Amino acid sequence: MKHSELIKLLGEMSLEEKIGQMCQLVPDFLGKTGELTGPLGHFVLNGNETKLLGSVLNANGAENVMKLQDEFMKNHPHNIPLLFMMDVINGYETIFPIPLAQGCSFEPELAKEGAQVASKEAAAEGIAVTFSPMADMVTDARWGRVMETPSEDKLLNYLFAKAMVEGYQGDDLTKKGNIGACIKHFAGYGAPEGGKEYYNCEISERTFMEDYLTGYKGAIDAGVTMAMTSFNSLNRIPSTANEWLMKKVLREQLGFDGVLISDWAAVGELVNHTIAQDEAQAAELSVNASVDIDMMTLCYSHNLSKLVEEGRITIEQIDECTLRILELKNKLGLFENPYKDASVEDEKKLILCDEHRQKARKAAAKTMVLLKNDDKILPLDLNKSTAFMGPYADNRQIYGAWSWVDNENAIKTVREIAGERNIKVSFAKGSTVLGAKNRVKSYTEQMTEQEENKLLEETIELAKCSEQVVLFVGEYRLQSGEASSRTDIELPKIQQKLIDEVSKVNDNVVLVVFAGRPLVLTDLLPKVKSVLYAWFPGTEGANALMDILTGEQSPSAKLSISFPRCSSQCPVSYRSFSTGRPSDANAEFNYASGYIDCPITPLLPFGYGLTYTDFEISKVTLSGNTMTENDTITATVTVTNTGGREGEQVVQLYVQDVKASVIRPTRELKAFKKIKLSAGESAQVELSVSEEMLRFYTRDMSFKSEKGLFRVYVGFDSTTDNFAEFSLV
Ligand code: GLC
Repeated sequence: MKHSELIKLLGEMSLEEKIGQMCQLVPDFLGKTGELTGPLGHFVLNGNETKLLGSVLNANGAENVMKLQDEFMKNHPHNIPLLFMMDVINGYETIFPIPLAQGCSFEPELAKEGAQVASKEAAAEGIAVTFSPMADMVTDARWGRVMETPSEDKLLNYLFAKAMVEGYQGDDLTKKGNIGACIKHFAGYGAPEGGKEYYNCEISERTFMEDYLTGYKGAIDAGVTMAMTSFNSLNRIPSTANEWLMKKVLREQLGFDGVLISDWAAVGELVNHTIAQDEAQAAELSVNASVDIDMMTLCYSHNLSKLVEEGRITIEQIDECTLRILELKNKLGLFENPYKDASVEDEKKLILCDEHRQKARKAAAKTMVLLKNDDKILPLDLNKSTAFMGPYADNRQIYGAWSWVDNENAIKTVREIAGERNIKVSFAKGSTVLGAKNRVKSYTEQMTEQEENKLLEETIELAKCSEQVVLFVGEYRLQSGEASSRTDIELPKIQQKLIDEVSKVNDNVVLVVFAGRPLVLTDLLPKVKSVLYAWFPGTEGANALMDILTGEQSPSAKLSISFPRCSSQCPVSYRSFSTGRPSDANAEFNYASGYIDCPITPLLPFGYGLTYTDFEISKVTLSGNTMTENDTITATVTVTNTGGREGEQVVQLYVQDVKASVIRPTRELKAFKKIKLSAGESAQVELSVSEEMLRFYTRDMSFKSEKGLFRVYVGFDSTTDNFAEFSLV
């Protein structure tokens, strides 16, 4: 439809119709069933709300969507089609690794490919917009939704958000298999006080602008069609009612011109936040913050027309919101093709097809991080008697919390894959995931303590007579994700006991960890020979895992988030500050920043990860020792694969602004390159530093670089001390 036709349509719509466009409900209110991805408050419908609805979340299935659309449009005064949206976070039916795992690939292209697969499958089932990517920056692993962010680092978050929007949206939203994306949660949701879910986030303007906004900017630079308000308050102002945040920062400064949707019930929850007297004021505050769609409350539906009558909001505001929604529907081609790409035939052809499974398998192998590998026990020598043990050795639940899985049977377990490949290993369960006393939501596995003890005894016996053991352990899949913040991020106690007992009787233990967050491995690392962090790898996770364990694939992933030494060390990040009394790891006791009972550094640093081969790096050299704002400096290293097999390495470049008008992180990731070298091969790697990379919010909050000395670190993780210096003149 031409823009002029949209304006004409807007002019013909009644106020009630316009307000209807600004409302989104689950299909349950339209007589169909949909997944509830949030608390269902008190809904007293008067029957009109659904007749004029603008969009629906969590309705899927080609036939179901087409039927819903037909019935709805028939009864709409202007036949305006519904917009179908859903949380397609890391894959649709073919589940990919969780976003945090994908960040560890240091390959944004991989995330783009995953988004392309997800959008094809979701589109075939009638979805037109996904509530993804999430780009909240997170340094606190206690926060459950750390699993949804690509990284603790703003550059990675920018690149992955940009890549995923490109993957979902393609270059034309009307094209088959492309769906609208939605950047969330705007903004700063990933920094709640103490890691407490939904909690207030105190972030200084400088840190917010310089660090936390970067990930969202990646999506906006890629033309994301929608943004979602966050549940949290930012410096005590709830985002959904934050005019400065939504109009000044999101729309003006970042140039976002799409639809702004509230998170689930976030408009109505302004009353709980104690900044809205009632739902009418909640609606008023949200419209004033330019929130176009009220997801899952009736605040807009039941109050906006009265607010217009009373002059508390204007018809122009309603028109502005409605037009943005109509424009999104138009960009998706819904006026010409209300079903978008819903197709029963395509569903059958695309969902979980081999091509998609292969891509998910490749992605999973590229996200698993090898954290330790003494005596190169991995890849496994399967001529040795090998036992696979633990609660994840024969477990389908290796997918993240935000995964729509119709049928877990589409997911093979490690044991099943080993059987398919005729890998001769013995099995023992060892323990349940959480043990008898745990009551985590929807965790059903129950055993008596006697049964658990018996299981452990059998397992220890098997460990005694095996030359090597692979222990498949991990947190329960719903211990991370929304509303899953934890104060204790160690492995479940029953599994720690299993590891203790098995490692007492077998010196060759490999640990494979499934998790949606960094878990505390401090006490476990010394007890085992090798640790492979598998995250929640998704549908093809077991296949990918066996590819790595058997050596068909070499691990190449690097940590995109720091691992803390203990839960109470959170938040922890590689981007630290020198302080007036820099921490000194070697001194026994001194007046230095940090703790007296724990080093200030993470247990495992950002950017760290091993491969099955070895690499060496030369001293970094720079193309010059001065740079003006118009040129760039090139850092050069020679990387050599000194091991016995081909491998991939991520060469990372960090910059330190040695002295500035405000304190600057001791290093910040500015560039990286993933290279593949065969055994014995060397390659020269060049990474450039531009003046733009040196800009920050200076003492007077102007965003610019300052002349002076800079250090360029180049290495294989964020602790590298391979540096050279230059001056910006
Ligand atoms: C949830 C989540 C958000 C999701 C939305 C719709 O509460 O916070 O990420 O997109 O509701 O399911």
